[in-house]
Amino acid sequence: MKVLVTGHRGYIGAHLVPLLQEAGHQVTGCDLGLFEGCQWEEPARADIELTKDLRALTPEDLAGHDCVMHLAALSNDPMGELEPGITEQINGQGSIDLAARAKAAGVRRFLFASSCSMYGKGESMDLDETAALNPVSAYAVSKIMAEEGISALADDDFSPSFLRNSTAYGHSPMLRIDIVANNLLASALAFGQIRIMSDGKPWRPLVHCADIARAFIAFMEAPRQTVHNRAVNIGANQENFQVRDIADIIAELLPQAEITYTGEVGHDPRDYRVNFDLLYSLLPDFKLAYNLRSGMEELHQALTGRFTAEDFEGDRFVRLRHLKKTFHLLKEYS
Ligand SMILES: NC(=O)c1ccc[n+]([C@@H]2O[C@H](COP(=O)([O-])OP(=O)(O)OC[C@H]3O[C@@H](n4cnc5c(N)ncnc54)[C@H](O)[C@@H]3O)[C@@H](O)[C@H]2O)c1
Repeated sequence: MKVLVTGHRGYIGAHLVPLLQEAGHQVTGCDLGLFEGCQWEEPARADIELTKDLRALTPEDLAGHDCVMHLAALSNDPMGELEPGITEQINGQGSIDLAARAKAAGVRRFLFASSCSMYGKGESMDLDETAALNPVSAYAVSKIMAEEGISALADDDFSPSFLRNSTAYGHSPMLRIDIVANNLLASALAFGQIRIMSDGKPWRPLVHCADIARAFIAFMEAPRQTVHNRAVNIGANQENFQVRDIADIIAELLPQAEITYTGEVGHDPRDYRVNFDLLYSLLPDFKLAYNLRSGMEELHQALTGRFTAEDFEGDRFVRLRHLKKTFHLLKEYS
């Protein structure tokens, strides 16, 4: 199939491109290159590379693709603080407009990188796709806006699906350490301390970034009716963790590292445990390749002896810090 991936030069996209190519699909990538030069290792190239803002994709760029996998976004909460409204413009309205252009260009499948963070402060401890949404950030609000706007476009010729991903972790050529499990491992390697910024109690569902990429492919290859206009949590029931449990797993890998509570953010308002039964009932053949322990072991091996305190404190692996340097690229389109 011919697949257009937005955000293909990001943390998850760097897994998705080679996995699609290995499965025999032809990949067009569209990415503004906000994190160019930040790679931990060289990421694979798409078959066709478009270096442009997703908002500038034309009907001609989109035509001829069987599926759009839309990952490009300002990909965490603090990034939206650089300019009020920018998260809504790109992640929210930008995504809806892209889906409308893709539909008009004849693209039949549209897979949206959504997020479990829309459950926010969970009211129950077993949140399935019917649970109330409690967004606690502009990022989460923008994902809800996009889901609603894109869902309204669904019809017999256009099938969107919404992959509500758990928080990612693990090795990628486009490494990030601003996501909780990677951050804790990176601080242990850089300083010999597993630095927990909250009180360690909030729950989070976690999933390996390569498993998110594998889920995108499973959705594209699934029968259309199975996933048509569906929002589906991506992760696994047994992969919900309290932050202090993540720290314990890392402490087993680095027994000399000390667990410290910096208390910087107090009790993190994002606190949710998610139910993933729908994913496995819709796609019974889909299985995660990793659990948190195996993913952390792999990342530990990849970083040991290479990852430094300078890496931890620099801007290569922390999206918000680097974005301050490349933000003008987004402004050029706005
Ligand atoms: N990483 C996670 O924990 C996680 C969890 C849930 C959902 N998601 C979602 O998955 C998607 C990918 O996340 P990621 O971790 O790979 O993020 P990332 O920040 O590593 O990559 C995002 C990519 O999108 C590109 N991009 C951003 N704005 C753009 C624009 N306007 N036009 C063109 N390109 C643009 C960036 O250059 C970057 O390469 C995002 O939509 C994110 O919200 C991520």
